[in-house]
Amino acid sequence: MSTITAAITAVGGYVPDYVLTNEILETMMDTSDEWITTRTGIKERRILKDSDKGTSYLAIKAAEDLLKKSNTDPKDIDMVIMATATPDMPVAATGVYVATQIGAVNAFSFDLVAACSSFLFGMSTAAKYIESGKYKKVLLLGADKMSSIIDYEDRTTCIIFGDGGGAVLFEPNTEGYGVQDEYLRTDGIGRPHLKIDAGGSLLPASAETVANKQHYVFQDGKTVFKFAVSNMADVCERVLNRNDIKGDDVQWLVPHQANKRIIDAAAKRMNLPKEKVMMNIHKYGNTTSATLPLCLYDYESQLKKGDKLVFAAFGGGFTWGAVYLTWAYDPK
Ligand code: UT7
Repeated sequence: MSTITAAITAVGGYVPDYVLTNEILETMMDTSDEWITTRTGIKERRILKDSDKGTSYLAIKAAEDLLKKSNTDPKDIDMVIMATATPDMPVAATGVYVATQIGAVNAFSFDLVAACSSFLFGMSTAAKYIESGKYKKVLLLGADKMSSIIDYEDRTTCIIFGDGGGAVLFEPNTEGYGVQDEYLRTDGIGRPHLKIDAGGSLLPASAETVANKQHYVFQDGKTVFKFAVSNMADVCERVLNRNDIKGDDVQWLVPHQANKRIIDAAAKRMNLPKEKVMMNIHKYGNTTSATLPLCLYDYESQLKKGDKLVFAAFGGGFTWGAVYLTWAYDPK
């Protein structure tokens, strides 16, 4: 019996039309294009302006793009994993709604919540279902409407985040392509440093929590930055070492897009030139669960069968890790 590996066989993506540039932010608060660009690498981000649309809208658009491009019948999908930090509602999983809306009527679905590592952890989860042999098509979605939880008077966080959605399809592969290895980590030490205080069971919503702005993201940027730089680089190096591959052997680093300086540090540790690093932070900012699939969406036409890709992420919690995957198809 041949071993089944879990390969990515299709990619989709979506970002909203509205572009929030650094120049517009300059008119809203005390900041500058120069500060944002040098500290983060971000020039602009996309914002879903419609107040009647949530994260599901971004996920549905990305999924529909994938279905159309790959000519996939949604009825053939077995499972939909919705990676997100901004579900439409606290109860009634967003993925369930998305699956029904896209016509994946034979699938079961759930949301996977691990801050900026949600999609990476979703890759691991999707791969396990495929490797079991019981599931043939697993749709992994990563989408976040970060603008719904950001305080646009807080210059330390609002400059970073944007809205977007991405989608990948996992299918069994018998040639050995797909997920090869992973190293995933969490540490609750991170909880005070990147969080939303209110709206959960610990501090339910009240007039007071709203007045105190406790439903917005709080981030101790400096601390998160420190942990992100060392941990993201560490997991990349570990995955290379234990698979006996070197930076030269890797075609692409697919890093979470939180800060260009964090990405540069991981690439440096892996000995990778910038030509091998997927980067779109300048145009989307940090879209949380959507950063990794949006990288694939932007770079898909450059990927070749057999390319070695290392995915890496770091996020609140803390949550972080790396996945090593070989690409399963040439540009279509
Ligand atoms: O994806 C989830 C994980 N998140 C991350 O990985 C984010 C990690 N953190 C970061 O990317 C960086 O820490 C930030 C981009 C958030 C901030 O950059 P920093 O170099 O760590 O700046 P800082 O917070 O140390 O602030 C330096 C100075 C401060 O002024 P003083 O106290 O030195 O006078 C801030 O008040 O920059 C000031 N500042 C700003 N100035 C202009 C903070 N935000 C801004 C701003 N514009 N938007």
